[in-house]
Amino acid sequence: MGYSVGRKRDLFEQNGRLQHVIFAQQFNRELIDQLSLTANQIRELAGGQESSSEVRSLLSNRRAMLFFTQASTRTFLSFAAACQLLGMQFTEVRDPSLSSEVKGESPLDSMRMFTSFNDIVIMRSGEPDFAEMCAWMMSDLASFNQRNVPIVNAGSGADEHPTQALLDMHTIKRSFDFEDETDSPDAVLRRFQAVYPDLARGVDGKTICFCGDIGRGRTVRSLALLLSNYDDITMHFIAPPVEKLQLPGELRSTLASAGVTVRESDNLEQVLPEVDLVYMTRVQHEHDSDDDARDYARVDWDAYKLDARKVSLMRTYAPVMHPFPRNDEISSDVDRDPRAMYFHQARNGMWMRAALLAYLFDADGRIGALHRKHFSDYHDYNRERQ
Ligand code: NCD
Repeated sequence: MGYSVGRKRDLFEQNGRLQHVIFAQQFNRELIDQLSLTANQIRELAGGQESSSEVRSLLSNRRAMLFFTQASTRTFLSFAAACQLLGMQFTEVRDPSLSSEVKGESPLDSMRMFTSFNDIVIMRSGEPDFAEMCAWMMSDLASFNQRNVPIVNAGSGADEHPTQALLDMHTIKRSFDFEDETDSPDAVLRRFQAVYPDLARGVDGKTICFCGDIGRGRTVRSLALLLSNYDDITMHFIAPPVEKLQLPGELRSTLASAGVTVRESDNLEQVLPEVDLVYMTRVQHEHDSDDDARDYARVDWDAYKLDARKVSLMRTYAPVMHPFPRNDEISSDVDRDPRAMYFHQARNGMWMRAALLAYLFDADGRIGALHRKHFSDYHDYNRERQ
């Protein structure tokens, strides 16, 4: 819509807090760090019977609507689990053919109606700008002192998927923290530094490889934008030689003006030994048009797939990520490799989405207080390094 990113960012904020979550550029580094810390706190609190029930009481007076009119399993279930962790009730609409839209009701009327019964709407839509339109409607209602609730974009067409990007960022931060179960991240880092002396803790300075459907993968766009908050980042975009699968010009220039070094090629195998992380994606066939089959027939698809042999070329600490669902771009022989991060990613999503909901309802401070109460003598490396 006709406003700059900066102006939209301001309009979707209230008292210095995000009110609606629509696009990745609403998040700066400080907020990513804050959410990641809350996610880690929720994860730890959820492990104890007493502490988890205290977390469940935090938002037991709030109700969420999960409005998912586009295919989804993990994002839907992950938000549902996030609501449960915080004690929120939720209702769902997944099939618009059962709603009053079939009686000719406008989607915005339907949405305003849902907000009468709920305190937040989390939505996935095939329409790239529907979540944003709903957020505008809520801002408008706020200016007339009418009931309005936060809108969270859980995937908008081929455009953005900011909450996937948040969980990906949380996973990346944890990976480059070199945490391990024995509570000794320095030892883990030193082990890798024996082989890669320049390796440093943290996201700054890292080289990230994105491979697959770069042009239409909303997770790629949103994550690349979040990563651009960090210093000295290099991104390799590896896509088949079909224009709609390649890095869109507008994203390239946004990243470049944020200081990212952008590289593009069609040779995954060549870049694997030099990158700190590989983010694989499937081809988003749901956005295909009839004549794409002709272009696809000329592509050597194996060049854009990862298997155990190719992973063996990668650095020994470098995570392999994928938002899932996968098709055949990562073969199952990679799954047992400790660098395969995709199932951890999904679990991280539940904690990070719970952290986001807590933040939107201003309950993150109370989570911090609960964490201090239960873990006051706990050695919290994340907090120490901030
Ligand atoms: C992604 C999506 O829906 O954009 N899935 C997800 O939310 N984990 C990625 C995809 O469908 O390829």
